[in-house]
Amino acid sequence: MTVMTVMKRLKEATRDQHEGLENTVDIMKESLTPEDYKKLLLKFYRFYAPVEEELAKLDWEKVGYSLKARRKVPKLEEDLEYLGAAEERNTIKLWTGIPKIADHASGFGVLYVLEGATLGGQIINRHIREHLGVAPGSGATFFNGYGPRTGEMWMEFCQTVNSYSEEFGGEEEMIEAARAAFDSFRDCFADTGLD
Ligand code: HEM
Repeated sequence: MTVMTVMKRLKEATRDQHEGLENTVDIMKESLTPEDYKKLLLKFYRFYAPVEEELAKLDWEKVGYSLKARRKVPKLEEDLEYLGAAEERNTIKLWTGIPKIADHASGFGVLYVLEGATLGGQIINRHIREHLGVAPGSGATFFNGYGPRTGEMWMEFCQTVNSYSEEFGGEEEMIEAARAAFDSFRDCFADTGLD
């Protein structure tokens, strides 16, 4: 019998949700306008800001994870400022339906979704550069993920989560939290509060 790592289980347990989200986050369309892109970033911000704040309540260094080095909200803020949306960002109603983060296991489940989202960045960045002329450092820093280090950062994350679960367990909590995070993100995106 082969033992499946928790990272592999997370991928399988959320495959359908990811597929659904790729359709909801309509960034790859040919007709993408700067206004669409700005709204999309505001929606990401609306979800990521309260989630990162909630995550920051736990001590991550203790489990070998650096939340600070991986924060994505500053990147969203930078892009929104570049696009002239700093004001809208300040007045936006943050998403209140964020997933529960009770402990490191559920936190890792939520982080799986945020860290994994950096992987689609290469494809997305090529598309938005061609259609909108934005680039890392000038409007497309968020989708650039960790730039050329994205793959390496993902591998490191996978190792951290796999070792955590080998030592402390918590696989079911991680999977439940990852699924809840995907649902919550989908609902945040579908909410028309921004229109
Ligand atoms: C149009 C939007 C998106 C595209 C084109 C896209 C594309 C991708 C690609 C190409 C991968 C790598 C797949 C692989 O190595 O097997 C990936 C992985 C992933 N993406 Fe997305 N993605 C998008 C949106 C999102 C969003 C919005 C989220 C979450 C908020 C997300 C979460 C993830 C996760 C968690 C993984 C890791 C899967 C694994 O366990 O290997 N993606 N995505």
